[in-house]
Amino acid sequence: MSKQRLYLTTPLYYVNDEPHIGHAYTTLLADVMARYHRLFGRDVHFLTGTDEHGQKVQDAAKKLGRSPQEHCDITAQRFVNVWDKLNVEYDDFIRTTEPRHEKVVVEILQQLYDEGEIYKEDYEGYYSVTEERFFTEKDLVDGKDPIGGRPVEKIKESNYFFRMSKHQQWLLEFYESHPDAVLPEFRMNEVKGFLQQPLGDLCISRPKSRLSWGIPIPWDEDYVTYVWFDALLNYYAATVSPPEGSSPAWPADYHLIGKDILTTHAVYWPTMLHAAGLEPPRHILAHGWWLSKDAEKMSKSRGNVVKPLDMADIYGPDLFRYVLMRDMVVGQDANFSEEMFVKRINSDLANDLGNLASRITKLIDKFFDGVVPEADALPEDELPQLAERTAHIVFQKVEGIQIHAAIEETLQFVRAANRIFTEGEPWKTVKQDREAAGRTLSTALEAVRIAAVLLQPVLPNKANELLERIGADADIQYSWDDTKWGTSLEGRKLTHGDAVFPRVEKPKPPKAGETKPAKKDDEQKTEDDYLSFDQFKQVDLRSAKVLHAEPVPKTDKLLRLEIEVGEEKRQLVAGVAQHYAPEEMIGRTIVIVANLQPAKIRGVESQGMLLAVRDGDSLNLLTPGDVKSGLRVS
Ligand code: MSP
Repeated sequence: MSKQRLYLTTPLYYVNDEPHIGHAYTTLLADVMARYHRLFGRDVHFLTGTDEHGQKVQDAAKKLGRSPQEHCDITAQRFVNVWDKLNVEYDDFIRTTEPRHEKVVVEILQQLYDEGEIYKEDYEGYYSVTEERFFTEKDLVDGKDPIGGRPVEKIKESNYFFRMSKHQQWLLEFYESHPDAVLPEFRMNEVKGFLQQPLGDLCISRPKSRLSWGIPIPWDEDYVTYVWFDALLNYYAATVSPPEGSSPAWPADYHLIGKDILTTHAVYWPTMLHAAGLEPPRHILAHGWWLSKDAEKMSKSRGNVVKPLDMADIYGPDLFRYVLMRDMVVGQDANFSEEMFVKRINSDLANDLGNLASRITKLIDKFFDGVVPEADALPEDELPQLAERTAHIVFQKVEGIQIHAAIEETLQFVRAANRIFTEGEPWKTVKQDREAAGRTLSTALEAVRIAAVLLQPVLPNKANELLERIGADADIQYSWDDTKWGTSLEGRKLTHGDAVFPRVEKPKPPKAGETKPAKKDDEQKTEDDYLSFDQFKQVDLRSAKVLHAEPVPKTDKLLRLEIEVGEEKRQLVAGVAQHYAPEEMIGRTIVIVANLQPAKIRGVESQGMLLAVRDGDSLNLLTPGDVKSGLRVS
């Protein structure tokens, strides 16, 4: 019998953005679902990628003196890197600048144009560069765009329109007959509500005179395609030319998205597909937002964006995956704070699972020479029955995309195993009844094995480490049969190492006296806080040109730069690696403090320091513009 196929996707992320918790969540949800379904024995195809056209990309590239394609090549890599780091195993990564994607977009546009689904018309509206779309006068709030509150520009131009309105009735009927096409249910209601209003047609072109970085409209060289019309087609394009060895079939089973892009996915996209004679996706799942602990939206300007890499660096990628999956009910918003992160890890993983595993293995080491004793369960044993029930519920919860509940169910099972193990007191009974003690230890260990297999999709590395510790096979693709109770561990030898789930602590802020806290702008300054002009003159600030840049080995934050300061060549170590790729640094003119005493940073000498401005989580280099190197900054 052939395996049941499952095709699931994430949104294509804007290539300009630095990867943040929102991107990480959608992608991890997809990865965890993909891994569970592989465990269930399905043939999974998981697609992610980057959205690379549009005004913002064109503008950013220009600012950096690069071609848009060069810019995309550099910035798309940041997503590839972050997914590697977070152990995301996608089957395909599609970029909207790839020929395989552009080809499908051009073909579908031409087909729709030939069939009269696309027409040209004069249009006047208010254009927002940030949102890359038009608003009507009615939409504006205080003359600004209603989404980000940014300035808009009144523009009159001819454009191409897709007859979206023609497909409104069909879409409504489709949603009536497929109530689970949009999930959760309350999002479906929102979409149906939206469809009660007359649907306009969709402007799908931009004149090249204003924006050239897009897929050319095949029949009119003066226009490029609107980014959303281009980007949405990726989901289908990836099935037309998939990577070798995979054969995803349209329609997609799940498009995973955030709630903010529901209309584009649940209204624009199915109507586009219907016009092209293609089936709509089976399910669109809109998840909620991660908010800061004060329930605020995370944004660059508020400086409260959680960087997935920071969390993964401090605590390891698996723990980050665990908390994101455990603490968000799919569909709802959730709050994120490092405190809750630490609490969750310590209670579930260190206290419950980790502690149980280490108590059992210590006793097996002590009384059974580290070899798992015989374990024939008795009919009255509670754990085998609980294991069967747990696996069944986990399966159902994952099918219903209740990942937090699947995890919680597994942890309930671990807690039950902990209780039964403690009640069995094998450390006492071993003296009178060695066989009974061995059985208590073995059955508890079997429970740990099953829990590890059930948690492997969420904690791929840590679960493997744990399986290895308890003598089970690690680094293999487990199957659903492996969640059944058994005696596979009998006679196996335990392995040793550090605790798999040690307690974690939030790194402490520096103690008073270690660094002088910066005064806030609104705090009163005293005389001591001011420099005299002579003091300031002692700081030698110079323009410098970056000739070469490379990461400092074994750090994530540092780059080693070779710079030119006038005639002189120097080396700097700069903490910019999380904000700038080495290639992005090369050729830049920066500002450095040229008369700082050299210092060794991670064993590498730094002859000076570069200047940059931190804005929340983002860091921007100070640049003097296009000037020679070695000039004094005054
Ligand atoms: N490029 C479009 C998608 C095109 S798909 C054909 C886009 N890109 S994005 O980079 O902005 O995507 C962001 C994704 O991350 C969306 O699913 C969005 O909902 C999600 N999130 C962004 N911030 C978020 C949080 N704070 N929390 C959870 N997810 C949020 O939109």
